[in-house]
Amino acid sequence: MSASRTITLAFTGASGMPYGLRLLESLLSADCRVFVVYSSAAQIVAKQECDLALPTQPREATRQLTERCGARDGQLTVFGRDDWLAPIASGSNPADAMAICPCTMGAIGAIAAGLADNLIERAADVMLKERRRLVLVPRETPLSAIHLENMLKLAHAGAVVLPPSPGFYDRPDTIADLVDFVVARVLDQLAVPHTLGPRWGENRVRGPLPGTQSI
Ligand SMILES: Cc1cc2nc3c(=O)[nH]c(=O)nc-3n(C[C@H](O)[C@H](O)[C@H](O)COP(=O)(O)O)c2cc1C
Repeated sequence: MSASRTITLAFTGASGMPYGLRLLESLLSADCRVFVVYSSAAQIVAKQECDLALPTQPREATRQLTERCGARDGQLTVFGRDDWLAPIASGSNPADAMAICPCTMGAIGAIAAGLADNLIERAADVMLKERRRLVLVPRETPLSAIHLENMLKLAHAGAVVLPPSPGFYDRPDTIADLVDFVVARVLDQLAVPHTLGPRWGENRVRGPLPGTQSI
């Protein structure tokens, strides 16, 4: 795995903003260059779930997130939703990989339909056409047949559909542990090194989980 990859990270307005923010921190810690773009619904969810006011103005957003995450100057750039001049809008200059985390069913549907109507949808479309890694972290429950068909279509087109479904076999103590479990799986798919949590087989589990003694 190589450090200093360029990753596009999109936040859309699904529940799960703690995953997205932790992913951003982890990418920066791994010395990746990160291009960030988010929807207006993501701004509402960030406020609701993390008490974070994501600025609408990209320059202000870049400054704020750079400071919040302790990023190097120039390591993180936020692009506006309609910035068609952003590098990630073209197959001639795509990022190495892209994650949409959290990802709404609306974004899933739009990408599956090839709409490319905003920078998030277009950057995802570019990743698929250029055969680069696109990781989608969709959140909804229950899932309708429309959601499932859209996700299957995207999986057939080469995307990795990675639901935020933390395992409990590492005995999580905190919400942060649950978040890290999911973010670790996303980082693995993006080929970004990390040390978030043990890998299977490394730390032998300490006896049976509560309620499983008879299994
Ligand atoms: C607090 C909050 C939580 C939401 N959670 C979800 C969700 O988990 N999944 C989803 O698909 N939409 C969810 N929505 C609805 C989307 O934000 C809405 O469909 C929006 O139009 C999506 O736009 P976007 O894909 O451009 O972000 C939520 C909205 C709010 C305000």
